[in-house]
Amino acid sequence: MRKIVTVVGARPQFIKVAPVSRELRKSYQEILVNTGQHYDYKMSGIFFEELNIPKPDYDLGVGSASHGKQTGEMLAKIEEVLLMEKPDGVLVYGDTNSTLAGALAASKLHIPLFHVEAGLRSFNKRMPEEINRILTDHVSEILFAPTETAVLNLKNEGITKNVFNVGDVMYDAVLYYAKMAAEKYQLGDFGVEEKKYILATIHRAENTDDITRLKAIFEALARLKDTVLLPLHPRTENKLKEAGLKHLLQAANIKVVPPVSYLEMVYLENHAKAIVTDSGGVQKEAYFAKVPCFTLREQTEWVETVEIGWNRLVNPIKENLTQIIEAWVPASYNEHLYGNGDASRKIVNHINLFL
Ligand code: UD1
Ligand code: UDP
Repeated sequence: MRKIVTVVGARPQFIKVAPVSRELRKSYQEILVNTGQHYDYKMSGIFFEELNIPKPDYDLGVGSASHGKQTGEMLAKIEEVLLMEKPDGVLVYGDTNSTLAGALAASKLHIPLFHVEAGLRSFNKRMPEEINRILTDHVSEILFAPTETAVLNLKNEGITKNVFNVGDVMYDAVLYYAKMAAEKYQLGDFGVEEKKYILATIHRAENTDDITRLKAIFEALARLKDTVLLPLHPRTENKLKEAGLKHLLQAANIKVVPPVSYLEMVYLENHAKAIVTDSGGVQKEAYFAKVPCFTLREQTEWVETVEIGWNRLVNPIKENLTQIIEAWVPASYNEHLYGNGDASRKIVNHINLFL
C-alpha cells in the first residue's frame, strides 16, 4: 500500500484532517505527524478524541516559540520522519507554521507535496499566514483550491499545473458533524438563549499584537447589547494579560469560556444571532450556519462571503460594531459557494491519479 505522510499541528488542521483522513485511509497508509504547535488539551487533544482522528504516529512536541525557532524545529523533526518513512507524498493543510515546515521538509527531499486550501490570499504580507501560504503553494505538486478565486490567485502567480478546485474540506466537516452536535447539546448547557447571543472568537496576530486594536475590539464587544459568548484563545488571553487589559473581559455582557470543542462550536454557531471573529474557519462556518458574520480584519481570504453580503469586514477602531450588527439585513444565500461537501473524496481521487 502506498504511503502518505500528513502533517498537522494547529487547531484548524485537526478539524480539516478529520474528513480527509477518513477518506484517505481507504486507499493509503497514512502516517500522521502532529508537530505539537498547539498542545493545550482544549486546543488539541479534545479534537482527536471528539472527531475520532487516528492517534498520531509521531508527536513532535514542538510547542510555542518565535516564528523562526518554531518553524525551524518543526522542519528538522519532520525531515527526520520523512527520511525514515520514505512516503510517496506529503499532505499539508492551510497556512500555519506547521504547514510551511511540512512543505519545506517535503520539497527539499523531492517528495511530492499536496496542499489542501491552496491559493488563498489576503494580499497582506504582514500576516504570517500569507507568507506560509505563498511559499507552500510555490513548492506544491498538487494544489487543492477551495474556490475559483483561489484558482485565479494561483494563475496570477503563474501556477496552473495540477490546480484543482475541489471545494472546502471544512464544509465536508460541518456536514458530517452538525447533526451529531445538534443531538449532543442544548442551549441551556451554555447559559444562552436562541438567537440572543453573539458568538465571538479573536486570535489573529494583527489584532492581538497591536494594543490599540486589541483594546478597541474588547471595548466594542463590551458595548454590544447582546450577551457575547467568547471562547478565548490562549494567545489572546496572554496578550490581554501582558497589556494590562484583562479587566476588559469583566464587562457585564461578556461571558468568557475556555476554547470549546468543535461540536460545541458548530452547535453554538448554529444558534447565534451573529458571529464576530477574525478566524478564517469561523467566517465560513458562520456562512454554513446562515448566521451573519462580522470579521474584525482589513482583508479576508474568504472574499465570497463578503461579496454576497453574509460577511462584513469591520475596522474596530474606525467603525461602530454595534450599529453595523444592528443594521445588517439578510442577503441572498448561495448553497454551493464552497463546493458540494465532497472535497475529501475529490482530493483522494486526484492523489490517486497523480501517484
Ligand atoms: C496559529 C496560526 C494561525 C491560526 C491559529 C489557529 C501560525 C503562524 N499561526 O496561530 O494561522 O489561525 O494557529 O488557532 O501558524 N498557546 C497556548 N496553548 C496552545 C497553543 C498556543 O498557550 O495550545 C499560546 C502560546 O502563548 C503561543 C500563542 O498561543 O505563543 C500563539 O500560538 P501559535 O501557535 O504560535 O499561534 P496562534 O496564534 O495559535
Ligand atoms: N474552533 C473550535 N473551538 C473554539 C474556536 C474555534 O473548535 O473555541 C474551531 C472552529 O469551529 C473552526 C476552527 O476551530 O473549525 C477554526 O480555527 P481557528 O479559528 O483557531 O483558526 P483559523 O481558521 O483562523 O486558522
